[in-house]
Amino acid sequence: MTERQPVIEIKDLNLHIARGNRDVHILKNMSHTIYPGEIWGIAGESGAGKSMTMYAMLSLLPERRTTLTGNIRYLEPDGTYTDLLTMPFQERGRYCANKVSLILQDSINALNPFECIETQWTETVLLHRPDADRERIPGHIERLLRRFGIPSGKTVMKKYPHQLSGGQRQRIAIAMALESGADILVADEPTTSLDTINQRKIIDFIVGLCEKNHLTMLYITHNLGIIQEICTHVAVMRYGEVIERGTIDEVFGSPKADYTKSLIAETLKLKGGDPR
Ligand SMILES: Nc1ncnc2c1ncn2[C@@H]1O[C@H](COP(=O)(O)OP(=O)(O)OP(=O)(O)O)[C@@H](O)[C@H]1O
Ligand SMILES: [Mg+2]
Repeated sequence: MTERQPVIEIKDLNLHIARGNRDVHILKNMSHTIYPGEIWGIAGESGAGKSMTMYAMLSLLPERRTTLTGNIRYLEPDGTYTDLLTMPFQERGRYCANKVSLILQDSINALNPFECIETQWTETVLLHRPDADRERIPGHIERLLRRFGIPSGKTVMKKYPHQLSGGQRQRIAIAMALESGADILVADEPTTSLDTINQRKIIDFIVGLCEKNHLTMLYITHNLGIIQEICTHVAVMRYGEVIERGTIDEVFGSPKADYTKSLIAETLKLKGGDPR
């Protein structure tokens, strides 16, 4: 049996952004290792560096004005690793798009308002699988829509984004993001723009997908309650660093950092539990 290898290894990652004449040190010697099938919640207050970590991992930062040092290593099917930061900059985006599916808070808005769902979804399929049989794509979309809880796929496919509900749009955006076939999923506050009922549905849905497809996930959110419920592990970020990490039981059961303790107490208060 082969030893279990991490799917992502981030080591001593530093991110600097030039702002005018100033240099802002955003990520500070960040290291983090993720094993297959783990679901990591990334928590921390606004400005902690959660999204910047994700942008760095996916090469979504502009080359100009940003400096990234350290290692972001992705596991390849043959057991070797590719270090994103040693790759020519122009190749990184394409590499990451195949390696990681990304769901954002405003994925809804990422849908093109001027094209019907079928047209844009077809483009996405062809982007990832240029040899796909065009004739079979509508059937494929319809099947996926059904799987994503949208049974009237034939009608929905012909609609434009503004003709659909927020929950439908977000489910479609997620389904399209997963067309890359990547086994790593990164979700950054994926449900913030939805009402409570749709939030619940989408979260259950994402968790179900991870279990069924054996995905590894990074779930970025302010909501520690959600992390406790759906994640296997949690990393707490503050000022561009991970200040605490571990399994859900470890961190929620015996948090070490005062900051984590106060975040957990806050969550319990919101849930109406004992805040001690
Ligand atoms: N374009 C930019 N130029 C310089 N600094 C930036 C830029 N965008 C963000 N920052 C800074 O980077 C730091 C990390 O921001 P980041 O967006 O990762 O926070 P976050 O943890 O995702 O917060 P939130 O929960 O609000 O989404 C913050 O201090 C922010 O001010
Ligand atoms: Mg953010």
